[in-house]
Amino acid sequence: MTDNDNYVVDGAGRRWFLKQSTALAGTLLLPPLATSSSAHPAAAPTADTTTRPITLRINRKTYKLTAEPRETLLDLMRERLNLTGSKKGCDHGQCGACTVHIDGRRAYSCLTLAVMQQGRDITTIEGLGTESALHLLQAAFIEHDGFQCGFCTPGQLMAGAALLKEGHTGSADEIREWMSGNICRCGAYPGIVSAIQSVKKGGTPG
Ligand code: FES
Ligand code: FES
Repeated sequence: MTDNDNYVVDGAGRRWFLKQSTALAGTLLLPPLATSSSAHPAAAPTADTTTRPITLRINRKTYKLTAEPRETLLDLMRERLNLTGSKKGCDHGQCGACTVHIDGRRAYSCLTLAVMQQGRDITTIEGLGTESALHLLQAAFIEHDGFQCGFCTPGQLMAGAALLKEGHTGSADEIREWMSGNICRCGAYPGIVSAIQSVKKGGTPG
């Protein structure tokens, strides 16, 4: 894990530097009035970059590592654990591409801090099914053409699998409503709704 940690700390440092550079560029573009009023600016808050040891349980595996308090679950999984199935679309909780299950409930991993997930059971698209034993919804997506370019498909599958367990499948409208937090620009919605309905008819997946 040490190599991993070194790599990620460097990565986080680069992101921090870029954010600071962007903020600085924004400051330089402020009109003179705004900049002159800050002759004695208050000390900028410094980010807490102290790492903490954490233990995460993801897809039935235990990971022991260290994480900064500001690190999202999505970044940690993608950049350090090579779990890249969860996609970073908007990084703002708007597209659903990063959807995972935490203790059986769906969550946007881009809005979830990794350090808050100790002791919880996390499932990503990598843990939903396997190549030889697809989750029923994965098989239904193939049969009903529920995916296209694939960037949003992992999130759609995770949301759909949770929705089936939650029982929000009374009608196509209800499915659409409960899937509305997942955006797909390819317009595969009809196939996704059909796939969810077909799994519902065949029985709720475990
Ligand atoms: S990347 Fe998390 S909701 Fe868009
Ligand atoms: S599959 Fe392409 S945007 Fe959703």
